[in-house]
Order: sequence, then C-alpha cells, then structure tokens
Amino acid sequence: MKEYLANPRVHLVRGEGCWLVDAEGRRYLDGNASVWTNVHGHNDPDLNAALKAQLAQVAHVTLLGMNHVTATELAEDLSALTDGKLPRCFFTDNGSNAVEVALKLSFQYWQLIGRPAKRGVIAMTGAYHGDTFGTMSVGDHRGFHQRFESWLFASTKFTAPVHSECAGCVQQTEMQASLSELEAILKAQATETACLIIEPRVQGAAGMMQQPQGFIKAVEKLCRQYDVHLILDEVFTAFGRLGALTVAEQEGVVPDFLCLAKGLTAGYLPMGATLTSEKIYQAFAGEFSEGRTFFHGHTFSGNPLGCAVARASLKKLRPMIASGQLAESAALLGREIETAFAAHPHVARYRQVGLTGAIDFCPAKRERHWPTDLRAGYKVSLAARRHGLIIRPLGDSILFVPPIAIKTDEIRHLIKAVRLAADEVLPALEAHTIS
Ligand SMILES: Cc1ncc(COP(=O)(O)O)c(C=O)c1O
Repeated sequence: MKEYLANPRVHLVRGEGCWLVDAEGRRYLDGNASVWTNVHGHNDPDLNAALKAQLAQVAHVTLLGMNHVTATELAEDLSALTDGKLPRCFFTDNGSNAVEVALKLSFQYWQLIGRPAKRGVIAMTGAYHGDTFGTMSVGDHRGFHQRFESWLFASTKFTAPVHSECAGCVQQTEMQASLSELEAILKAQATETACLIIEPRVQGAAGMMQQPQGFIKAVEKLCRQYDVHLILDEVFTAFGRLGALTVAEQEGVVPDFLCLAKGLTAGYLPMGATLTSEKIYQAFAGEFSEGRTFFHGHTFSGNPLGCAVARASLKKLRPMIASGQLAESAALLGREIETAFAAHPHVARYRQVGLTGAIDFCPAKRERHWPTDLRAGYKVSLAARRHGLIIRPLGDSILFVPPIAIKTDEIRHLIKAVRLAADEVLPALEAHTIS
C-alpha cells in the first residue's frame, strides 16, 4: 500500500474505444482490458444503448423467487453457446461466485443421488479460480492465498503440462506426463471425488500459462471414464479471448459446469453465470419437503442491466469472430511479441495464444538472478504509462490482455510501449542482480 501511495495515482475519467483518459487528459491504451473484461472497447454506442433501454424499464429485479425477461433471454443465448447441451443457467455477480456455484452444485448433486462420499476436488497446479474461500481452496496461487491456507479445504493438484506457443508456432509441449499423473489420481480417488476444475487452454493468473490443443479433450475423457464432474472455468478464456466464444466450443468439450464472467458483460457490469446440464438440474427438482433446494443467492444475481449488456455484446461478438477479425488480431499480436522480444536480452520466455500473451524478464547475465523485491515487472508497467499504456505486471512478467476489439495500430502501440519501457527500466536493474 505504501508503494501504491508513493507512485502517481491515475484517476481515469473517460473511455474511448480501447483507450482510457485520465483527469489531466492523458490517453492510455488499455492493455489490461480493464482486468480482462473488455470486449468491444469502452463507451461502446451499442452497449450504451442496450444499457439505457434496460434502464428505462427496470434497473434491478431479484432472481430469488422472481424473474425478468432479459435474464431468461440471456440464459437461452448462453445455452446456445453449448449447442443446448448445457441448457440450465445459474446467475451470480462475479467469476468467483460462478465457480463457487459450480463446486456447490457438484457437491450437492452427489449427495442428492445417494453418493455422499464423492466430496473431493481435483485441480491443476498454477490454478486460479477466485478469491473466496471455496475458490482459494481449489486454487494454487501461493502468492495470493498462502496467508489464508489454514482456513482452506483440501484439494488434490495434478501438474500442469509444459506448453508454450507464440504466433501459432509451438515451442515445446509435454502433456502426457500431466495426463498420466491425473489418471493415477483418478484411479486412486475417483470414488471420493466430486469434480475436477480447470481453466482450459490458458491459466491467466498463473502468467498466461498454456496447455496444448487437445489437452482439455483428454481431461474430459478421463473425467467421463472415472465418473467425475468436469468444471471448465472460462471466466477468463470465453467471449473471444482465445478466438472463439468459448474454449469448450473450440475444443469440442462438453463440461458438466461452464463458469462465465468477466467478458460476459464486455466489462460493463459485474455478472457471473454457471451453465449446467439437464441431468444435473433434474437432481435438484423436488418438493420443498425433500430438501433438494440449492441454497445460494446473491442480491445482484442476474441483474437486468448486466443481462441487457451481455445480450448486446454477444450480438456484436458473433459476427466479429465470423469475420476473421479476431484471428487476424491474435496473429498480429503474436508476430509483434515475437519481433520485439524473441531476441531481447532481458526476455527469458514469451508466449501468446488468442488475445493473451506474456513475456518473462530476466537479467541479461542469465546465470544471475534478481532479488524478488526488485519488482522488474511492476517498474516496467509504471514506465509504460509514460508511453501511453496501462499494462499489468505479474512478478517479473508483463501480461498482454487487450480488449478483444483492439485494432492493428493499437496492437503495435501496445508492444512498442512495453518494449520502450523495458529498455528504459531493465538495463539499470543489472547492477542489482545476485548470483
Ligand atoms: C479463471 C478465473 N476464474 C475466476 C476468476 C475470479 O473472477 P472474479 O474476479 O470476477 O471474482 C478469475 C479472475 O481473474 C479468473 O481469471
């Protein structure tokens, strides 16, 4: 907090497309897509119109025992994303809660069908599913969650595959070891395991760590074989981030639960949704006296303003994906990252898939290290502001997560600003390396 207060604070007052403007009129490209949510840019006229139209009707209706038309229509839109295979939708108000709901539904489902021993959760190393206690329990982010460890429930982790690609070029892949480890865990624990949860294709908070194509399909197969629910946490990866509406669709996977948030409302309003199958839904159907009720409700779940914007966003996103615009942007992002950083003396690794990417910094003298409190990534992100860019660091890495609608010249600005900032900041850190 001291560090935050010591640095110049940026008060953002306006958004224009992929740009944010501060109180002094300085313009910054939003290289963080407002914490990975922004799809069509800021202040989008179509989304604004949808929001205003809903506002003229009603701003909030509880979904606790009530309903509103926009929520029903959005639930149908979302079900269509799964080709109707996950026709049931539970609305919440953020990504963590979308995951909490999937976990709780899975736990309760096994109780309701008379298999209460199935309680455990399997997750992958590097996982991040949110900051609530349930999501921290199934996460694997020591930096964020270690302090709360003694309050968390146990979950079993299997090792993420080693995979890295950029501009469509695969640099290395090792997925069999990961799948074998998972199968061994399932063999030993499936009768006591309710579900497996995973961020498919890219683990954002782990530093945009990638899995190879086909990995999630293999995980799905193992879940089916061992009768364990598959939860896909697509809070980060859906709505164009990896080039399609969902990774599930891209990889031909049908999970038992699909968690959505972030890009769902294109960065306008807080909203989460958990989709599930008819089979799971039906286990909860019963008379009140049977005690099958799923007790989970948030005050702003399925808020009509969010639902209206989400519908308008989906309507715009479908033709954008079909036009090939996203694929072109992703390819350009990859090429620009490669050109700027492949031979950079301070870049140890780089990767990109869809509109996600990361570079990991290191000392030019590769045999030496930076002390962790040197904060290389943070310093580069501060310097990038002077070059008209808001970008998010993670340790010694910089994460590229621009709005989905980013244009060609803006992608070039994004990479150029990080390159300039890195070249300004990193050579001076060489003096502070340790062996
Ligand atoms: C994969 C994933 N799941 C869940 C979450 C939590 O979402 P929220 O911050 O909306 O609670 C995040 C947030 O970054 C995420 O990346």
